Amino acid sequence: MAHRIAVLSQKGGTGKTTTVRTLADAFRRGGLRVLAIDLDPQGNLSDYFDVPPDASPTVADVLVGRAPAADAIHDDVIPANLQLAEAELALAGRMGRELTLRKVLRDADGEYDVVLLDCPPNLGLLTVNALVAASHALIACEAQYFALQGVEQALQVIELAKDGLNPDLEWLGAVVTKADLRTVHSREAVEALRKEHPGKILDAVIRQSIAYAESSERGVSILDHRPELGVDYLDLAGELARALGEDDAAARIDGLSAGVRA
Ligand SMILES: Nc1ncnc2c1ncn2[C@@H]1O[C@H](COP(=O)(O)OP(=O)(O)OP(=O)(O)O)[C@@H](O)[C@H]1O
Ligand SMILES: [Mg+2]
Repeated sequence: MAHRIAVLSQKGGTGKTTTVRTLADAFRRGGLRVLAIDLDPQGNLSDYFDVPPDASPTVADVLVGRAPAADAIHDDVIPANLQLAEAELALAGRMGRELTLRKVLRDADGEYDVVLLDCPPNLGLLTVNALVAASHALIACEAQYFALQGVEQALQVIELAKDGLNPDLEWLGAVVTKADLRTVHSREAVEALRKEHPGKILDAVIRQSIAYAESSERGVSILDHRPELGVDYLDLAGELARALGEDDAAARIDGLSAGVRA
């Protein structure tokens, strides 16, 4: 079975979607086959991957049982749009609502090594579905003091999923995003996070830069737009690939990272 990684956070704008799309790119460069699933009614991930707005079926159709997951894969993406908000409401009234995604994804990801799930900016039913369907959870948090609380809340939801519906769920850790390491605040926030969650804040830290907004505007991966910044995500991808036991891919990605730094 593919490694299924849910990327979540308790609040908005922590870099989840940027992390999913750039990790997808980095893992692919490492030779892994990656499926990206948009679980946010905002559909940002789908836009970024240039899925046509009228692509059908979407993840909403899959969740309510109108289409099999395999039919909703468009160029290695299962897209979302505003219909997902309706689907979430419909799900909320059903028995086994937390298990829906896990069920519909069964057998759907056989051709992939990694599935990345881009969660919406809250810890509601869609995020819980992602955590129940996932093998691994990855928290995205900003390099800010208030992130401490957000990580704590995300962790509680992960623990709930583990305790009840998905005992095999593993926490990969938290990736610190949007770090301005020139400021004391940012550096201290990263230190505080590491102190609070020893061994669980990933080594790779994603630096803050306006280049991320430019890269999504132009639809060009940060790995190509600004390789000297994108190397942060290569480091993250290498670290995660190693944690997943994908050593060949990790070695290839580390090689790419070394190439950028040379
Ligand atoms: N490392 C970074 N430095 C600066 N800006 C960034 C960085 N990563 C992402 N951004 C910008 O921050 C905004 C939010 O990023 P993104 O959409 O990835 O976050 P998100 O957690 O998915 O948001 P939402 O919770 O709304 O889904 C975007 O405009 C993006 O371009
Ligand atoms: Mg997002």
